[in-house]
Amino acid sequence: MAPASPPPHPDSPASPARLVVLVSGSGTNLQALLDAIADEGAAGYGAEIVAVGADRADIAGLGRAERAGLPTFVCRVKDYADRAAWDRALAEATARYAPDLVISAGFMKIVGAEFLARFGGRTVNTHPALLPSFPGAHGVRDALAYGAKVTGCTVHFVDDGVDTGPIIAQGVVEIRDEDDESALHERIKEVERTLLVEVVGRLARHGYRIEGRKVRIS
Ligand code: GRF
Repeated sequence: MAPASPPPHPDSPASPARLVVLVSGSGTNLQALLDAIADEGAAGYGAEIVAVGADRADIAGLGRAERAGLPTFVCRVKDYADRAAWDRALAEATARYAPDLVISAGFMKIVGAEFLARFGGRTVNTHPALLPSFPGAHGVRDALAYGAKVTGCTVHFVDDGVDTGPIIAQGVVEIRDEDDESALHERIKEVERTLLVEVVGRLARHGYRIEGRKVRIS
């Protein structure tokens, strides 16, 4: 992870930041970004989505990208000799679109060394729990099973751990006695979509620095 990052698009601060969004499923966080950009315009929001990548084909998230007229790419782990080759291919596919920021919006794979060498310090992930509690693939289920009374979502930069990178922003969601995993996740996702849109816009418009574990938005 780079210790500090310049504002995106330093050559032309007036132009929108280029986003590559990575998805694995329904893509409602991607849709929230698409909607914000459509509502405010890329210049007003400060960013545009230039491509959407996925680790599997035939998912709703890719359909949303195609309907928005965006280029898409798919890198499936099983199509590569090993995890490192997959990671290299993902990094190369992403690099083709020259993103200022990569947004992992429900992308259910851990990126590796090659990806982080190119995009560390500018890859943002959203996680459905209040990190550092309940990292990993089952953050909603784990918070519920633990008996926590509040949970939420965390938007953070990606580092080489599992959901361990510097935190940018968090949103809190109360856990109700009657919650099951699906009901709780839906309420978290409502907060998560708003938070992600707000955070990505601020990073893109203002630039940021990562100082240790602190993220300073200029
Ligand atoms: C989000 O809650 C994200 O944090 C988690 O998976 C969900 C993705 O939702 N990793 P969507 O695909 O954006 O609808």
